[in-house]
This record gives sequence, C-alpha cells and structure tokens, in this order.
Amino acid sequence: MSAYLEIKFIHAREILDSRGNPTVETDLTVLNHCNGKCYTGTAAVPSGASTGQFEAVELRDGEPRYFGLGVQHAVKNVNEKIAPAFLGKNALNQFEIDRALLELDGTDNKGNLGANATLSVSLACAKAAACALSMPLYRYVGGTGAHLLPVPMMNILNGGKHAANTVDFQEFMIMPTCADSFSCALRICAEIYHNLKKLLEQKGLSTGVGDEGGFAPDLPDAESVLEMLVDAIKASGYTPGEEIWIAMDAAASELYNEKTNMYHFPGESRQKGGEVIRSTEEMISYFEELTDRYPIISIEDALAEDDWDGWQELTKRLGAKVQLVGDDLFVTNKKRLAAGIKLGTAGSILVKVNQIGTLTEAFEAVELAHKNNYTAVMSHRSGETEDTTIADLAVAWNTAQIKTGAPCRSDRVAKYNRLLRIEEELGRAAEYPGLLAFHVR
Ligand code: PGA
Ligand code: ZN
Repeated sequence: MSAYLEIKFIHAREILDSRGNPTVETDLTVLNHCNGKCYTGTAAVPSGASTGQFEAVELRDGEPRYFGLGVQHAVKNVNEKIAPAFLGKNALNQFEIDRALLELDGTDNKGNLGANATLSVSLACAKAAACALSMPLYRYVGGTGAHLLPVPMMNILNGGKHAANTVDFQEFMIMPTCADSFSCALRICAEIYHNLKKLLEQKGLSTGVGDEGGFAPDLPDAESVLEMLVDAIKASGYTPGEEIWIAMDAAASELYNEKTNMYHFPGESRQKGGEVIRSTEEMISYFEELTDRYPIISIEDALAEDDWDGWQELTKRLGAKVQLVGDDLFVTNKKRLAAGIKLGTAGSILVKVNQIGTLTEAFEAVELAHKNNYTAVMSHRSGETEDTTIADLAVAWNTAQIKTGAPCRSDRVAKYNRLLRIEEELGRAAEYPGLLAFHVR
C-alpha cells in the first residue's frame, strides 16, 4: 500500500503581517496511516506593496475594519469552502491538491477563493506532509538533490513604495559572491549593513529603516545611493565588483505614468527642484550608464510590467552584462514567463509564491525558467510574517539566489536564520554557489 497522509483538519485564521495589516494563516493536520499519528503544518501568507497588476488576487474584505484590509472572507473560504472539499485527500499528492484548489476556485487569477486562501492551504499541506515524514521542508520538496544554499540579494537601502524617503528606485542590494559558505555570506552582508549605518550617521543622514529593513535616508538620486553602497563595501574591506556586487530593484511599474508614457521620479524631482521624468529610451540609457559606472550585477523591473518592446530593447543592450529580473513583468506566472522567453526578454524570474497562489505553480515557473536557461530568484514580499517557507524553497529548487531583505526586522532575519540552520544540517553536502548563482545548473 502506498503512503497515505489523510487530511483530517484545515483551519485558517486572520493574523498580522510585518506592516500591521491582516493576512491569512492556515493549520493543516494529516493522519499518517503508517503509524496512526497526526501531524500539523502551518503556513502564513505574505503581502506586497508594489503589487504587479497581473498578480493573482489577494482577497481583502473592503470593510471598515482594518481600513478595508481584513481577510475574514479569505479565512472563511478556507474554513467553509476548501476544508470540507479537502478532508480525506492524501497530502502527499501536492500536485493533485493544488490542481483541486485551482478547480474549486474556477478562475484564471484565484479571484474566487483568493490567492491568499489557496496559498496558505497549499503551503500548509506541504509542511504537514514533510512533518509527517520527519523530513525538513527543503528535503521533502526538493528531494535528495537539494543542497545548494542561495546567494543573498540583500536589500540594505530602501526607497520607492517601501519608505517615505526621496529614493525613487525601490531596492538597493548587495550580493557577496566571494563567500565560501552561506554563513560567511551572511556575516559579510551584516558587516556591510553596519558600516553603511556608520557612513549615514557620519553624513547626518537618517538611519531609520523601510519595510524590508534597509535604511531609508533622503538621497538625491540613484548615483548617490550607489556611491554610498560602494563606500560601505570598501569600508568593510571588500572590493566592489569582484568580491561584492550590487543589485537593484527599480520597481519601474510604480514610476511609470500611462498618461505621459514616461517614468516619473518624484523624490529626485523634490531634491533637485525640477521635474525629473525619463522616457523608455532614457531609462535604458540611464541603466547603461549606471552599470558602466558602478558594479551592478542584477537589475529587477527596470521597466514597466507591460512594456514588452522596451524590455526587448533593454535585454538586447544590457542582457549580456547584467542579470535582468522580471518581477511585475512575470508575476511568477508560467504563461507570462513563456511569453517573455519567446520574445527573448529578461534573463531571470523573481519567484514570489503569493503572486501565483499555489506551491505547484510556483515550482512550474522555476522549472520553466531553468529549462530555458533563465535564473530564478526566490523572494519575500515587503509585508512578511515569521513564516520561513521561502528559505526552504530556495534550497529545494536550487534557485541559488534569494531576496529576503536586510539583516534587520525579525520577519527578514527569520529567513536568513532558517538558511543558517539548513546549512548546518546539510553539513559537508552544503554548497554555496558564489558567482555560479548567475548560471543555471
Ligand atoms: P513588494 O515588493 O513585496 O512590495 O511587491 C517587493 C519587490 O518588488 O520585489
Ligand atoms: Zn520587485
């Protein structure tokens, strides 16, 4: 008889995320028929602020409580619609479970049940199954081959929608490719973070942090941010562009204005006392200039989510030199990724499980990327919880890169700490890819 982990109990509740907004958490309990014991997996769903328009639907109540952001309807969908339909199913059939969630929802974008409802069940199911088999999640999901720790794409300076400062690009990150282990990489990043804090203090700039834990000072433009990062890397004793690289998330969909067909830079405008706007062509040239002058290895959402022509041109001009990551462009959706691959657009997909709403679909996006020589970067959202599932998924799926914020705020640090524990558990089998993270394996 094949193993049977019978789903016995599913219960969702409303909890808070790192911004103090409600989100869905689900407990799923299975009965292991081999030993008669029950096991529970719990998963909490993250939430974005610079959300792509093509993401699966995050169901919000739209009622006065929590300013419309309550998730009681999504919770009810888990408890009253999903639970009764899923009791008795075998939690080992993750693919089947996720397909059943899609069928029960019946829409293209999880608009019925809510991707927050479906994702919480999908992840809790995998976690319960792993627990019932006494396996860590990365091993259960990734199998015997899972041994690659990700290079952190660590966000140390926040702007855009994640902070109230004048920095218009959303994220400035560091990637320690010179480290020989994940724990060493994490130490290097934390040291650079602390040195950046000292440099900001010396200049009398704010050391308050944004949603992802990076500092959020008022700086006039991207160049001044990049200068600060280079100085912090050097102050820590490392060579920028050899040992430590810089990555950026422009989150350009947030800067794009449909009416003018231009990218507007409100912070830079305020700092410079005149409106700063850039066309698609000017954006591409701007990124060319920045990558010529600074040690930038990766740029995410350099252009807006529907500017396919611009993305193609950008890829032609910069794709061989830097990793171009599609976040709002691909929204962890294999159909949008397939369209991008066909057009030769970008070279990497950002993977956010709640953009798509089930574990299987997120896996399919990673698989499609890797098959086509695109890299995949596992990612948190700006609204997070203490849930560390993405750390395990990065190892399970050999993404080799992870974006999960600064070494600050427990919602971010929890993922890094989970990776430290995974590395320790893997022992000599653990591998840190360094620069190889930019090649698909
Ligand atoms: P979000 O930002 O979670 O607010 O969407 C993260 C990102 O754009 O990568
Ligand atoms: Zn992004």
